[in-house]
Amino acid sequence: MRFPSWLLFHALLSQVHSDATDYLDEAKALLEESPLLDTHIDLPQIFRSLHRKPLDAVRLLNATFPGHVDIPRLREGRLGGAFWTVWAPCPDIAGGDPGPDFTAPTHHVRDALEMVDLIQATVAQHPDDLQLARTSDDIWTAFRSGRIASLLGMEGTHMLGNSLSVLRIFAQLGVRYLTLTHTCHSAFASATSWRAGNADVLGEVHAGGGLSDLGVELVRELNRVGIMVDLSHTSDSTMRQAIGVSKAPVVWTHAGARAVRDHPRNVPDDILALIGDGEGQIDGLVQSVFFPDFIGEQPGVNASHVVDHMEHIGNIIGRTRVGIASDFDGMYMTVDGLEDASKYPNLIAELLSRGWTPDEVRGAMGGNLMRIMDKVDEVAIVGDLGETHGSTSTDWGGGGVQVYWPPDVKEKVENMLVKHDEL
Ligand SMILES: *[C@@H]1O[C@H](CO)[C@@H](O)[C@H](O)[C@H]1NC(C)=O
Ligand SMILES: *[C@@H]1O[C@H](CO)[C@@H](O)[C@H](O)[C@H]1NC(C)=O
Ligand SMILES: [Zn+2]
Repeated sequence: MRFPSWLLFHALLSQVHSDATDYLDEAKALLEESPLLDTHIDLPQIFRSLHRKPLDAVRLLNATFPGHVDIPRLREGRLGGAFWTVWAPCPDIAGGDPGPDFTAPTHHVRDALEMVDLIQATVAQHPDDLQLARTSDDIWTAFRSGRIASLLGMEGTHMLGNSLSVLRIFAQLGVRYLTLTHTCHSAFASATSWRAGNADVLGEVHAGGGLSDLGVELVRELNRVGIMVDLSHTSDSTMRQAIGVSKAPVVWTHAGARAVRDHPRNVPDDILALIGDGEGQIDGLVQSVFFPDFIGEQPGVNASHVVDHMEHIGNIIGRTRVGIASDFDGMYMTVDGLEDASKYPNLIAELLSRGWTPDEVRGAMGGNLMRIMDKVDEVAIVGDLGETHGSTSTDWGGGGVQVYWPPDVKEKVENMLVKHDEL
């Protein structure tokens, strides 16, 4: 009782106030010794939107650049690696209606390839800062050379042209995860109906609101070619079915916990319960997203609320199965304290201030994800042709090509009963 009570009060107040900031130096040190991997950054769509010649925009990334991301801010934020998003808008947004059975051609394969080209160009244009990566070894190589590992994540199966052949080519191009839907259903899988905030608005296109038969084949093919199965954006039925089919770990590359914030884009506890190494479970992880709508009540959503999601997920599936995903450049609002790519240390400091050990933090930053990537690579069968060839079809769309066929081929084709159009 020797101290005046106002002094004690003041000391307590500043203690509370400086809690997470007290850990900023330790956070930065951790980020310098081990890579933070952000599994969802939508920068490529900014290039494409900003410029009629998007490659002109790519050149400008070394200075202050519109949106949440540029090289100076990535460096200040000490990001170790990014999954740049290969994405083109769903048909109902961008046009090119594939029809109710998804068989009408659209431009999405071209658009997705252009996004891959933009990512490759970005890395080529900034070789001192960025380096392409696919495996965990590649990530460490890039990180140790002082560059940001650059990986490809593809968001939505509406960009596959209904074709597993196309998928295999994206695998060759280095695509490391495939989100089974974006905000639209596809020939493969059913999306969550969140977009319009109305449970019925998307309707049911596949029996049970989950995967189609082709979607089941897709999951097997993803396992075979070593692409991670991403269940963000999908319906709960798609999540359950994919977990049932997949032989490799599954991931949510940008999502939260539904028990913390009741939102269809977040993962419910009963689906989290399917993830683990116990009987009837498979391995996997959830990369916690920064999109404020998914995290909590607006306004005032901050880094502590993001960590609330990480802690809840960690309590159910373990802190070795959590990670970080900003969704930068894909959001029209941001979390307080995590406004752009320079702010990652604030999140790491928040984890440390809550008593996460350095090992747990290093795992959440990237170690957990790299373990999952290694497991996915172990399941993959390189060099095998695979069991299926998807919808590769004798029908080119326009007809008339049979003029080039030798007569015996023509006769065989005409007698074929199955025309590959049973999607
Ligand atoms: C960015 O790179 C260009 C060359 O491509 C150079 O002219 C410019 O000065 C650089 N800007 C910064 C801020 O480094
Ligand atoms: C986030 O907001 C909550 C109030 O909702 C507050 O208690 C907490 O200290 C804030 N965290 C940060 C990192 O600002
Ligand atoms: Zn998304």
